[in-house]
Amino acid sequence: ATIRDFRRTLLAWYDQEGRDLPWRQDHDPYHVWVSEIMLQQTQVNTVIPYYQNFMATFPTVGDLADADEATLLKAWQGLGYYSRARNLQRAARQLVTDYQGKWPQTAAELTDLVGIGPYTAGAIASIAFGEVVPAVDGNAFRVFSRLLLIDDDIAKPQTRKVFEQAIQPIVDPQRPGAFNQAIMDLGSSYMRAKNSDPAHSPVKAFDASYQTGRVADFPVKTKA
Ligand code: ADE
Repeated sequence: ATIRDFRRTLLAWYDQEGRDLPWRQDHDPYHVWVSEIMLQQTQVNTVIPYYQNFMATFPTVGDLADADEATLLKAWQGLGYYSRARNLQRAARQLVTDYQGKWPQTAAELTDLVGIGPYTAGAIASIAFGEVVPAVDGNAFRVFSRLLLIDDDIAKPQTRKVFEQAIQPIVDPQRPGAFNQAIMDLGSSYMRAKNSDPAHSPVKAFDASYQTGRVADFPVKTKA
C-alpha cells in the first residue's frame, strides 16, 4: 500500500460520499474562515443555519469589519464563545487595514491574524489557496494516530508538530483542501472517537490500528 494508493482511495471516497456543506460550495477564504471558526466548538448541524445567516448578514470581509457590535453579537447568539465573534471582527479589520483587503495565502502568514491558530491556518491555506499543508484538528489526530500508529500523547502541546510532520508528506499535492476535508469527514464517520466503524472504512486497508486490532488504543490522550 503506497501513499499514492491512499490518496486515490481517500479522494475517490470523498468525491462520492463527502458531505455537501454550504461552506464547501466554493473556496472563498472568507467562507472557509468563518465556517472553521464556527466549527471549532460547535457541531456541523448546528453551525449550518448560523453560517447561512452570517453570510446573508455580512456577505464580505468588509461588511464584517464595518458591522456594529449589536448586529455581530446577534448573529452569533446561541453559538456561544463570543470571543470567537469578536476575534473574527478584529481579524476582518486587520485584513482591511493591514493587508488592504488582500488575504495572505500561506498558513505561516495566516497565523498573524487574530484568532487563527495552526489548525485554522492550515484549513484556509489548503482549501482556499491550495497550499500543500495539513490541517491538524481532533479529527486528524484521531485518524492519523490510527493509520500510522502514532502513540504520542495528543494532550501535550508539542505533539502537534509530530503529527504535522508525519502528515505533511501524505497530503495530496494536487488537492490538499479536499484531502484535509476528507480526513474531517472520515473522522466524523468511520473513524469517530466513539462508535467508530473501521471495518467499513474506505481506508481500512491503510488503517494499521484496524489491521492489528488496536483501534481502541488510539489516539493516546492523557486525562486533563
Ligand atoms: N470540522 C471542522 N472543519 C470542517 C469542515 N470544513 N467541514 C466539516 N467539518 C469540519
